[in-house]
Amino acid sequence: MSKVIAVFGAGTGLGVSVARRFGREGFRVALVARRKDRLDALAGELGGEGIEAVAFSADLAKPSEVPALVQMIRDRLGRIDVVEYGPISGDTGFTAATELDAATLMELSPLLLFTPVEVVRAVLPEWTERGDGAFLLTQGYSAARPMPYLSGLGPVMSATRNYLYSLNAELAGTGVYAGTLSVASLIARSEVAAAAQAAFTAADGPKVGIVDPDDLADQYWRMYTERDHVERFYPDSLTA
Ligand SMILES: NC(=O)c1ccc[n+]([C@@H]2O[C@H](COP(=O)([O-])OP(=O)(O)OC[C@H]3O[C@@H](n4cnc5c(N)ncnc54)[C@H](OP(=O)(O)O)[C@@H]3O)[C@@H](O)[C@H]2O)c1
Repeated sequence: MSKVIAVFGAGTGLGVSVARRFGREGFRVALVARRKDRLDALAGELGGEGIEAVAFSADLAKPSEVPALVQMIRDRLGRIDVVEYGPISGDTGFTAATELDAATLMELSPLLLFTPVEVVRAVLPEWTERGDGAFLLTQGYSAARPMPYLSGLGPVMSATRNYLYSLNAELAGTGVYAGTLSVASLIARSEVAAAAQAAFTAADGPKVGIVDPDDLADQYWRMYTERDHVERFYPDSLTA
């Protein structure tokens, strides 16, 4: 039975590029997001390229629903070998640190911290038994490098990054890999890239370039096959 990648947060930016990159290597694909019509369109696009892709509509801001979702994917596709986690939408923007409050952090935490932890909990027994598996976490650069006015997302994502580093080390030698890609560019074809660009400009933030998500997907394929880095940055000249 061929391997399966589950893309949690599958849109027209990175999500579909990762699906396509792993699909080209023979993976079947589970696409997860809220809007079924958009998922069906992406699954159709991939199907036209000879990649088997199945759409699963779910709200990833509900961590308690993760076990049932993962089971649904397994029931339909038989297994999960790789997870890429990178949901983002237009209503999850940056907040200035001077304006940050507990309510904002509580709103961001289910999607960006609690659910990825629950996804790992749901897939880890299968991966540990098989001695193979990979969890790939996509984040913005503010997870690794705090920047003025670009708070809110950063503190929550940095907690998830902290968890990912512990996870990577604990899984060393088991065949199961956890890695993260921190992106400091706008992602071409992503729905949210335009809104993010406006936030950077308004905040007089760092000037950011635009990356083709196919290049990030190539980076993920290298991380998956080489498994020698807990974290990669884009552009790769950056550090935390
Ligand atoms: N876009 C950028 O410029 C940029 C820059 C730096 C880093 N990043 C990071 O790169 C990753 C990929 O970003 P992208 O913009 O290229 O993503 P994408 O693959 O184009 O789309 C992500 C998808 O996540 C889904 N999503 C959002 N909230 C969700 C929820 N509550 N439950 C289920 N699905 C949800 C959205 O679909 P629905 O609305 O239908 O649910 C969206 O289409 C993210 O981790 C992001 O933080 C992006």
